[in-house]
Amino acid sequence: MSSYIISPCSSLNGEIEVHTAKNAVLPLLACGLMTKEPLTVRNVPDLTDVHNMLLLLRDCGCEAMNENGTVTICAKNPRMPTSEEKMRALRASVLVMGPLMARTGRASVSFPGGCAIGQRPIDLHRKGLMALGAEEITENGKTYLEGRLVGKSVYLDLPSVGATENIVMAAATEEGITRIENAAKEPEIADLCRCLCEMGARIRGAGTGTIVIEGVKELKGADYTPIPDRIEAATYACAAAGCGGRVMIKGARAEHMRAVIYKLREMGMQTRESPEGLLVSGRARKPIEVRTLSYPGFPTDAQALMMAVSCQAAGTSVFMETVFENRFMHVSELTRMGARIRVENRVAVVEGVKRLRGASVTGSDLRAGAALMIAGLMAEGETLLIDEEEHIPRGYQRLPEALAALGARITKA
Ligand code: UD1
Repeated sequence: MSSYIISPCSSLNGEIEVHTAKNAVLPLLACGLMTKEPLTVRNVPDLTDVHNMLLLLRDCGCEAMNENGTVTICAKNPRMPTSEEKMRALRASVLVMGPLMARTGRASVSFPGGCAIGQRPIDLHRKGLMALGAEEITENGKTYLEGRLVGKSVYLDLPSVGATENIVMAAATEEGITRIENAAKEPEIADLCRCLCEMGARIRGAGTGTIVIEGVKELKGADYTPIPDRIEAATYACAAAGCGGRVMIKGARAEHMRAVIYKLREMGMQTRESPEGLLVSGRARKPIEVRTLSYPGFPTDAQALMMAVSCQAAGTSVFMETVFENRFMHVSELTRMGARIRVENRVAVVEGVKRLRGASVTGSDLRAGAALMIAGLMAEGETLLIDEEEHIPRGYQRLPEALAALGARITKA
Protein backbone atom coordinates (compact mmCIF):
# COMPACT_ATOMS: atom_id res chain seq x y z
CA MET A 1 0.00 0.00 0.00
CA SER A 2 1.16 3.56 -0.72
CA SER A 3 -0.27 6.79 0.63
CA TYR A 4 0.34 10.32 -0.53
CA ILE A 5 -0.17 13.63 1.21
CA ILE A 6 -1.23 16.23 -1.32
CA SER A 7 -1.09 19.95 -0.54
CA PRO A 8 -3.25 22.57 -2.24
CA CYS A 9 -1.66 23.91 -5.41
CA SER A 10 -2.40 27.37 -6.79
CA SER A 11 -0.89 26.71 -10.23
CA LEU A 12 1.28 24.27 -12.18
CA ASN A 13 3.98 25.65 -14.44
CA GLY A 14 6.89 24.41 -16.47
CA GLU A 15 7.80 21.60 -18.81
CA ILE A 16 7.26 17.89 -18.48
CA GLU A 17 8.28 15.07 -20.78
CA VAL A 18 5.78 12.35 -21.51
CA HIS A 19 6.90 8.69 -21.44
CA THR A 20 6.15 6.09 -24.09
CA ALA A 21 2.62 4.70 -23.92
CA LYS A 22 1.92 1.86 -21.51
CA ASN A 23 -0.85 0.62 -23.78
CA ALA A 24 1.51 0.55 -26.76
CA VAL A 25 4.41 -1.03 -24.87
CA LEU A 26 2.44 -3.96 -23.38
CA PRO A 27 1.22 -5.42 -26.71
CA LEU A 28 4.65 -4.74 -28.26
CA LEU A 29 6.31 -6.79 -25.52
CA ALA A 30 3.82 -9.63 -26.12
CA CYS A 31 4.71 -9.29 -29.81
CA GLY A 32 8.22 -10.44 -28.85
CA LEU A 33 6.71 -13.95 -28.76
CA MET A 34 6.04 -13.71 -32.50
CA THR A 35 9.62 -14.30 -33.65
CA LYS A 36 12.62 -16.42 -32.76
CA GLU A 37 14.84 -13.39 -33.38
CA PRO A 38 15.29 -10.68 -30.72
CA LEU A 39 12.75 -7.85 -30.59
CA THR A 40 14.05 -4.69 -28.94
CA VAL A 41 11.59 -2.13 -27.59
CA ARG A 42 13.10 1.22 -26.60
CA ASN A 43 12.17 3.84 -23.98
CA VAL A 44 10.06 1.35 -22.06
CA PRO A 45 8.66 3.11 -18.97
CA ASP A 46 9.36 1.81 -15.47
CA LEU A 47 5.87 0.55 -14.58
CA THR A 48 4.60 -2.38 -12.53
CA ASP A 49 2.52 -3.53 -15.51
CA VAL A 50 5.71 -3.69 -17.62
CA HIS A 51 7.54 -5.58 -14.89
CA ASN A 52 4.64 -8.07 -14.64
CA MET A 53 4.52 -8.49 -18.42
CA LEU A 54 8.24 -9.33 -18.46
CA LEU A 55 7.71 -11.94 -15.70
CA LEU A 56 4.87 -13.42 -17.76
CA LEU A 57 7.00 -13.52 -20.92
CA ARG A 58 9.78 -15.32 -19.03
CA ASP A 59 7.14 -17.80 -17.88
CA CYS A 60 6.31 -18.22 -21.59
CA GLY A 61 9.89 -19.35 -22.22
CA CYS A 62 11.29 -16.01 -23.41
CA GLU A 63 14.50 -14.33 -22.46
CA ALA A 64 13.44 -10.82 -21.43
CA MET A 65 16.08 -8.25 -20.54
CA ASN A 66 15.49 -4.70 -19.42
CA GLU A 67 18.53 -2.43 -19.51
CA ASN A 68 17.45 1.03 -18.39
CA GLY A 69 14.29 0.94 -20.46
CA THR A 70 15.70 -0.88 -23.49
CA VAL A 71 13.89 -4.19 -23.40
CA THR A 72 14.92 -7.14 -25.53
CA ILE A 73 12.68 -10.16 -25.84
CA CYS A 74 13.96 -13.36 -27.37
CA ALA A 75 11.45 -16.16 -27.85
CA LYS A 76 13.39 -19.10 -29.31
CA ASN A 77 11.09 -21.74 -27.82
CA PRO A 78 7.87 -20.14 -26.62
CA ARG A 79 5.45 -22.15 -24.49
CA MET A 80 2.25 -21.60 -22.57
CA PRO A 81 2.64 -19.83 -19.22
CA THR A 82 2.58 -22.13 -16.21
CA SER A 83 1.54 -19.56 -13.63
CA GLU A 84 -2.09 -18.43 -13.35
CA GLU A 85 -0.86 -15.85 -10.86
CA LYS A 86 1.26 -14.11 -13.52
CA MET A 87 -1.72 -14.05 -15.90
CA ARG A 88 -3.86 -12.47 -13.21
CA ALA A 89 -1.30 -9.80 -12.40
CA LEU A 90 -2.37 -7.66 -15.37
CA ARG A 91 -5.17 -7.35 -17.92
CA ALA A 92 -2.73 -7.20 -20.82
CA SER A 93 -1.64 -10.79 -20.05
CA VAL A 94 -4.47 -11.79 -22.41
CA LEU A 95 -2.26 -10.43 -25.22
CA VAL A 96 -0.02 -13.50 -25.17
CA MET A 97 -2.94 -15.56 -26.55
CA GLY A 98 -2.64 -14.40 -30.18
CA PRO A 99 1.16 -14.70 -30.39
CA LEU A 100 1.15 -18.14 -28.72
CA MET A 101 -1.48 -19.38 -31.17
CA ALA A 102 0.69 -18.07 -34.01
CA ARG A 103 3.92 -19.65 -32.76
CA THR A 104 2.78 -22.86 -31.03
CA GLY A 105 -0.81 -23.49 -32.19
CA ARG A 106 -2.00 -23.57 -28.58
CA ALA A 107 -2.88 -20.99 -25.94
CA SER A 108 -4.50 -21.20 -22.54
CA VAL A 109 -7.68 -19.25 -21.93
CA SER A 110 -7.65 -17.69 -18.50
CA PHE A 111 -9.17 -14.61 -17.05
CA PRO A 112 -6.68 -11.80 -16.78
CA GLY A 113 -6.46 -9.33 -13.90
CA GLY A 114 -6.09 -5.54 -14.06
CA CYS A 115 -8.35 -2.70 -12.97
CA ALA A 116 -11.78 -3.71 -11.63
CA ILE A 117 -13.65 -1.29 -13.88
CA GLY A 118 -16.20 -3.71 -15.25
CA GLN A 119 -16.56 -7.35 -16.18
CA ARG A 120 -13.79 -7.17 -18.79
CA PRO A 121 -14.72 -10.43 -20.52
CA ILE A 122 -12.52 -12.05 -23.19
CA ASP A 123 -15.26 -13.49 -25.39
CA LEU A 124 -14.24 -11.35 -28.39
CA HIS A 125 -10.63 -12.56 -28.16
CA ARG A 126 -11.83 -16.19 -28.11
CA LYS A 127 -14.44 -15.72 -30.82
CA GLY A 128 -11.93 -13.96 -33.08
CA LEU A 129 -9.32 -16.68 -32.75
CA MET A 130 -11.98 -19.37 -33.19
CA ALA A 131 -13.21 -17.65 -36.36
CA LEU A 132 -9.67 -18.20 -37.69
CA GLY A 133 -9.92 -21.92 -36.95
CA ALA A 134 -8.91 -22.38 -33.31
CA GLU A 135 -10.90 -24.93 -31.34
CA GLU A 136 -11.66 -24.72 -27.68
CA ILE A 137 -10.79 -27.77 -25.62
CA THR A 138 -10.93 -28.46 -21.90
CA GLU A 139 -8.33 -30.67 -20.23
CA ASN A 140 -8.03 -31.29 -16.48
CA GLY A 141 -10.38 -28.42 -15.77
CA LYS A 142 -8.38 -25.94 -17.92
CA THR A 143 -9.50 -24.40 -21.19
CA TYR A 144 -7.24 -24.02 -24.22
CA LEU A 145 -7.49 -22.83 -27.79
CA GLU A 146 -5.79 -25.11 -30.24
CA GLY A 147 -5.37 -25.57 -33.97
CA ARG A 148 -3.83 -24.22 -37.15
CA LEU A 149 -5.18 -20.82 -38.06
CA VAL A 150 -6.19 -19.82 -41.58
CA GLY A 151 -7.05 -16.32 -42.83
CA LYS A 152 -10.76 -15.45 -42.66
CA SER A 153 -13.05 -12.48 -42.14
CA VAL A 154 -13.67 -11.62 -38.50
CA TYR A 155 -16.34 -9.21 -37.30
CA LEU A 156 -15.96 -7.76 -33.80
CA ASP A 157 -19.27 -7.03 -32.03
CA LEU A 158 -17.41 -4.26 -30.21
CA PRO A 159 -14.20 -2.51 -31.33
CA SER A 160 -12.16 -4.10 -28.51
CA VAL A 161 -8.58 -2.88 -28.34
CA GLY A 162 -7.14 -6.09 -26.92
CA ALA A 163 -9.16 -8.41 -29.18
CA THR A 164 -8.05 -6.43 -32.27
CA GLU A 165 -4.40 -6.70 -31.16
CA ASN A 166 -4.67 -10.43 -30.45
CA ILE A 167 -6.27 -11.19 -33.80
CA VAL A 168 -3.76 -9.06 -35.72
CA MET A 169 -0.86 -10.90 -34.07
CA ALA A 170 -2.42 -14.34 -34.51
CA ALA A 171 -3.13 -13.63 -38.19
CA ALA A 172 0.29 -12.15 -39.03
CA THR A 173 1.93 -15.52 -39.72
CA GLU A 174 -1.02 -17.68 -40.70
CA GLU A 175 -1.88 -18.80 -44.18
CA GLY A 176 -4.22 -16.61 -46.22
CA ILE A 177 -5.80 -13.21 -45.73
CA THR A 178 -7.59 -12.06 -42.57
CA ARG A 179 -9.95 -9.12 -42.58
CA ILE A 180 -10.99 -7.65 -39.22
CA GLU A 181 -14.21 -5.63 -39.48
CA ASN A 182 -15.19 -3.18 -36.74
CA ALA A 183 -11.58 -3.24 -35.56
CA ALA A 184 -10.54 -0.79 -32.84
CA LYS A 185 -8.73 2.29 -34.20
CA GLU A 186 -6.60 3.30 -31.22
CA PRO A 187 -3.14 4.73 -32.08
CA GLU A 188 -1.57 1.97 -29.97
CA ILE A 189 -2.96 -0.60 -32.43
CA ALA A 190 -1.50 1.29 -35.38
CA ASP A 191 1.80 1.35 -33.45
CA LEU A 192 1.73 -2.42 -32.93
CA CYS A 193 1.00 -2.91 -36.65
CA ARG A 194 3.88 -0.59 -37.58
CA CYS A 195 6.24 -2.72 -35.52
CA LEU A 196 4.81 -5.94 -36.99
CA CYS A 197 5.39 -4.52 -40.50
CA GLU A 198 9.01 -3.74 -39.57
CA MET A 199 9.23 -7.40 -38.53
CA GLY A 200 8.05 -8.42 -42.02
CA ALA A 201 4.26 -8.64 -41.56
CA ARG A 202 1.87 -7.42 -44.28
CA ILE A 203 -0.87 -5.31 -42.74
CA ARG A 204 -3.12 -2.67 -44.29
CA GLY A 205 -5.71 -0.41 -42.70
CA ALA A 206 -4.23 -0.21 -39.18
CA GLY A 207 -5.86 2.72 -37.39
CA THR A 208 -9.10 2.25 -39.38
CA GLY A 209 -12.14 0.06 -38.75
CA THR A 210 -11.00 -2.54 -41.30
CA ILE A 211 -7.60 -4.15 -40.93
CA VAL A 212 -6.38 -6.57 -43.58
CA ILE A 213 -3.55 -8.96 -42.74
CA GLU A 214 -1.85 -11.06 -45.36
CA GLY A 215 -0.15 -13.89 -43.53
CA VAL A 216 3.62 -14.32 -44.04
CA LYS A 217 5.70 -17.39 -43.28
CA GLU A 218 7.63 -15.96 -40.38
CA LEU A 219 8.62 -12.69 -38.75
CA LYS A 220 12.08 -11.38 -38.03
CA GLY A 221 13.35 -9.28 -35.15
CA ALA A 222 13.18 -5.48 -35.00
CA ASP A 223 14.28 -2.47 -32.98
CA TYR A 224 11.27 -0.32 -32.18
CA THR A 225 10.44 2.88 -30.27
CA PRO A 226 6.74 3.16 -29.30
CA ILE A 227 4.53 6.26 -29.40
CA PRO A 228 4.17 8.67 -26.45
CA ASP A 229 1.46 8.09 -23.84
CA ARG A 230 -1.63 10.13 -24.71
CA ILE A 231 -3.30 9.33 -21.37
CA GLU A 232 -0.26 10.39 -19.36
CA ALA A 233 -0.25 13.62 -21.41
CA ALA A 234 -3.99 14.04 -20.70
CA THR A 235 -3.23 13.59 -17.00
CA TYR A 236 -0.76 16.50 -16.98
CA ALA A 237 -3.16 18.60 -19.07
CA CYS A 238 -6.04 17.92 -16.65
CA ALA A 239 -3.81 18.68 -13.65
CA ALA A 240 -2.93 22.05 -15.23
CA ALA A 241 -6.61 22.65 -16.08
CA GLY A 242 -7.72 21.95 -12.52
CA CYS A 243 -5.03 24.00 -10.75
CA GLY A 244 -4.51 26.63 -13.43
CA GLY A 245 -1.12 27.41 -14.92
CA ARG A 246 0.94 26.88 -18.04
CA VAL A 247 2.49 23.51 -18.83
CA MET A 248 4.43 22.38 -21.87
CA ILE A 249 3.87 18.64 -22.27
CA LYS A 250 6.90 17.65 -24.30
CA GLY A 251 6.51 14.79 -26.71
CA ALA A 252 2.69 14.78 -26.48
CA ARG A 253 1.14 14.02 -29.88
CA ALA A 254 -1.88 16.32 -30.26
CA GLU A 255 -3.23 14.25 -33.17
CA HIS A 256 -3.75 11.34 -30.71
CA MET A 257 -5.54 13.57 -28.18
CA ARG A 258 -8.09 15.48 -30.23
CA ALA A 259 -11.14 14.66 -28.08
CA VAL A 260 -9.34 15.60 -24.85
CA ILE A 261 -8.01 18.84 -26.38
CA TYR A 262 -11.51 19.85 -27.59
CA LYS A 263 -12.95 19.27 -24.12
CA LEU A 264 -10.16 21.24 -22.44
CA ARG A 265 -10.82 24.13 -24.79
CA GLU A 266 -14.57 23.92 -24.12
CA MET A 267 -13.70 24.28 -20.44
CA GLY A 268 -11.82 27.48 -21.20
CA MET A 269 -8.22 26.26 -21.54
CA GLN A 270 -5.87 27.47 -24.24
CA THR A 271 -3.85 24.86 -26.07
CA ARG A 272 -1.05 25.17 -28.61
CA GLU A 273 0.29 22.30 -30.63
CA SER A 274 3.83 22.17 -31.95
CA PRO A 275 6.33 19.54 -33.05
CA GLU A 276 7.79 19.83 -29.53
CA GLY A 277 4.53 18.85 -27.82
CA LEU A 278 1.36 20.37 -26.41
CA LEU A 279 1.24 23.62 -24.46
CA VAL A 280 -1.78 24.01 -22.16
CA SER A 281 -2.53 27.18 -20.25
CA GLY A 282 -5.29 28.85 -18.28
CA ARG A 283 -7.73 27.38 -15.80
CA ALA A 284 -10.76 25.23 -16.66
CA ARG A 285 -13.87 27.06 -15.46
CA LYS A 286 -16.71 26.06 -17.78
CA PRO A 287 -18.79 22.87 -17.43
CA ILE A 288 -18.68 20.17 -20.13
CA GLU A 289 -20.47 17.14 -21.51
CA VAL A 290 -18.35 14.05 -22.08
CA ARG A 291 -19.33 10.76 -23.66
CA THR A 292 -16.62 8.11 -23.56
CA LEU A 293 -16.25 6.14 -26.77
CA SER A 294 -13.65 4.06 -28.52
CA TYR A 295 -11.01 6.06 -30.45
CA PRO A 296 -11.23 8.70 -31.88
CA GLY A 297 -13.99 9.41 -29.32
CA PHE A 298 -13.22 10.62 -25.82
CA PRO A 299 -11.05 7.99 -24.06
CA THR A 300 -12.57 6.20 -21.08
CA ASP A 301 -9.10 6.33 -19.49
CA ALA A 302 -9.39 10.14 -19.25
CA GLN A 303 -12.96 10.24 -17.91
CA ALA A 304 -12.06 10.27 -14.20
CA LEU A 305 -9.31 12.87 -14.80
CA MET A 306 -11.71 15.22 -16.57
CA MET A 307 -14.39 14.65 -13.96
CA ALA A 308 -12.01 15.77 -11.20
CA VAL A 309 -11.43 19.01 -13.13
CA SER A 310 -15.18 19.55 -13.67
CA CYS A 311 -15.86 19.41 -9.90
CA GLN A 312 -14.87 23.09 -9.62
CA ALA A 313 -16.42 24.30 -12.90
CA ALA A 314 -19.03 27.05 -12.80
CA GLY A 315 -22.06 24.95 -13.75
CA THR A 316 -23.25 21.40 -14.35
CA SER A 317 -21.21 18.84 -16.29
CA VAL A 318 -22.45 15.50 -17.58
CA PHE A 319 -20.36 12.35 -18.08
CA MET A 320 -21.66 9.33 -19.93
CA GLU A 321 -19.48 6.22 -19.65
CA THR A 322 -20.26 3.92 -22.56
CA VAL A 323 -17.12 1.74 -22.63
CA PHE A 324 -16.92 0.16 -19.16
CA GLU A 325 -19.93 -0.49 -16.96
CA ASN A 326 -18.27 0.17 -13.62
CA ARG A 327 -16.03 3.14 -14.07
CA PHE A 328 -17.43 5.67 -11.62
CA MET A 329 -15.67 4.39 -8.52
CA HIS A 330 -13.88 7.71 -8.07
CA VAL A 331 -17.25 9.43 -7.62
CA SER A 332 -17.77 8.42 -3.97
CA GLU A 333 -14.22 9.59 -3.18
CA LEU A 334 -14.65 12.92 -4.96
CA THR A 335 -17.89 13.34 -3.00
CA ARG A 336 -15.94 12.93 0.25
CA MET A 337 -13.94 15.95 -0.91
CA GLY A 338 -17.10 18.02 -1.22
CA ALA A 339 -17.88 17.36 -4.91
CA ARG A 340 -21.57 17.29 -5.84
CA ILE A 341 -22.09 14.32 -8.13
CA ARG A 342 -25.14 12.16 -8.84
CA VAL A 343 -24.79 8.88 -10.70
CA GLU A 344 -27.56 7.10 -12.50
CA ASN A 345 -26.48 3.95 -14.32
CA ARG A 346 -23.80 5.11 -16.73
CA VAL A 347 -24.37 8.84 -16.32
CA ALA A 348 -22.74 11.10 -13.75
CA VAL A 349 -23.97 14.65 -13.27
CA VAL A 350 -21.44 16.97 -11.64
CA GLU A 351 -22.57 20.26 -10.18
CA GLY A 352 -19.49 22.41 -9.83
CA VAL A 353 -18.63 23.65 -6.33
CA LYS A 354 -16.48 26.64 -5.46
CA ARG A 355 -13.70 24.60 -3.86
CA LEU A 356 -13.10 20.94 -3.06
CA ARG A 357 -11.93 20.15 0.48
CA GLY A 358 -9.00 17.94 1.37
CA ALA A 359 -10.04 14.54 2.77
CA SER A 360 -8.83 10.99 3.15
CA VAL A 361 -9.64 9.13 -0.08
CA THR A 362 -8.84 5.80 -1.71
CA GLY A 363 -7.91 5.22 -5.37
CA SER A 364 -9.70 2.10 -6.56
CA ASP A 365 -8.14 1.88 -10.01
CA LEU A 366 -5.27 3.41 -11.97
CA ARG A 367 -7.01 6.45 -13.47
CA ALA A 368 -9.22 6.97 -10.40
CA GLY A 369 -6.01 7.26 -8.36
CA ALA A 370 -4.58 9.86 -10.75
CA ALA A 371 -7.90 11.76 -10.77
CA LEU A 372 -7.92 11.92 -6.97
CA MET A 373 -4.35 13.20 -7.02
CA ILE A 374 -5.51 16.04 -9.31
CA ALA A 375 -8.54 16.68 -7.06
CA GLY A 376 -6.18 16.84 -4.07
CA LEU A 377 -4.11 19.55 -5.79
CA MET A 378 -7.28 21.53 -6.55
CA ALA A 379 -8.69 21.23 -3.01
CA GLU A 380 -8.42 23.47 0.00
CA GLY A 381 -6.49 21.74 2.81
CA GLU A 382 -4.47 18.54 2.70
CA THR A 383 -5.62 15.33 1.05
CA LEU A 384 -4.49 11.86 2.06
CA LEU A 385 -4.67 9.61 -0.99
CA ILE A 386 -4.46 5.91 -0.21
CA ASP A 387 -3.42 3.73 -3.13
CA GLU A 388 -4.25 0.47 -1.41
CA GLU A 389 -3.40 -1.85 -4.28
CA GLU A 390 -0.56 0.24 -5.76
CA HIS A 391 -2.58 1.07 -8.88
CA ILE A 392 -0.80 4.35 -9.70
CA PRO A 393 2.70 2.86 -10.33
CA ARG A 394 1.09 0.26 -12.61
CA GLY A 395 0.55 2.94 -15.24
CA TYR A 396 2.53 6.05 -14.27
CA GLN A 397 6.27 6.33 -13.86
CA ARG A 398 6.70 8.48 -10.74
CA LEU A 399 3.58 10.61 -11.16
CA PRO A 400 3.94 12.50 -7.84
CA GLU A 401 7.51 13.49 -8.75
CA ALA A 402 6.41 14.60 -12.24
CA LEU A 403 3.70 16.85 -10.79
CA ALA A 404 6.14 18.10 -8.14
CA ALA A 405 8.46 19.23 -10.94
CA LEU A 406 5.60 21.51 -12.06
CA GLY A 407 5.17 23.00 -8.60
CA ALA A 408 2.91 20.53 -6.79
CA ARG A 409 3.63 19.37 -3.23
CA ILE A 410 3.00 15.66 -2.94
CA THR A 411 4.83 13.54 -0.38
CA LYS A 412 4.65 9.85 0.40
CA ALA A 413 2.98 9.33 3.77
C1 UD1 B 1 -7.58 -1.28 -23.43
C2 UD1 B 1 -6.63 -0.45 -22.59
C3 UD1 B 1 -7.37 0.23 -21.45
C4 UD1 B 1 -8.55 1.04 -21.99
C5 UD1 B 1 -9.43 0.17 -22.90
C6 UD1 B 1 -10.52 0.96 -23.59
C7 UD1 B 1 -4.58 -1.70 -22.85
C8 UD1 B 1 -3.51 -2.54 -22.23
N1 UD1 B 1 -5.59 -1.33 -22.09
O1 UD1 B 1 -8.10 -2.29 -22.58
O2 UD1 B 1 -6.45 1.11 -20.79
O3 UD1 B 1 -9.34 1.48 -20.91
O4 UD1 B 1 -8.62 -0.43 -23.93
O5 UD1 B 1 -9.98 2.02 -24.32
O6 UD1 B 1 -4.47 -1.32 -24.02
N2 UD1 B 1 -15.10 -6.40 -24.17
C9 UD1 B 1 -15.96 -7.46 -24.31
N3 UD1 B 1 -15.43 -8.66 -24.68
C10 UD1 B 1 -14.09 -8.83 -24.94
C11 UD1 B 1 -13.23 -7.72 -24.81
C12 UD1 B 1 -13.77 -6.51 -24.43
O7 UD1 B 1 -17.16 -7.36 -24.09
O8 UD1 B 1 -13.69 -9.94 -25.28
C13 UD1 B 1 -15.66 -5.09 -23.74
C14 UD1 B 1 -15.06 -4.65 -22.41
O9 UD1 B 1 -15.74 -5.22 -21.32
C15 UD1 B 1 -15.23 -3.16 -22.49
C16 UD1 B 1 -15.05 -2.86 -23.98
O10 UD1 B 1 -15.24 -4.09 -24.65
O11 UD1 B 1 -16.52 -2.81 -22.09
C17 UD1 B 1 -13.69 -2.29 -24.34
O12 UD1 B 1 -12.68 -3.16 -23.89
P1 UD1 B 1 -11.29 -3.32 -24.66
O13 UD1 B 1 -11.24 -2.34 -25.77
O14 UD1 B 1 -11.10 -4.76 -24.98
O15 UD1 B 1 -10.27 -2.89 -23.54
P2 UD1 B 1 -8.87 -3.55 -23.19
O16 UD1 B 1 -8.18 -4.00 -24.43
O17 UD1 B 1 -9.03 -4.49 -22.06
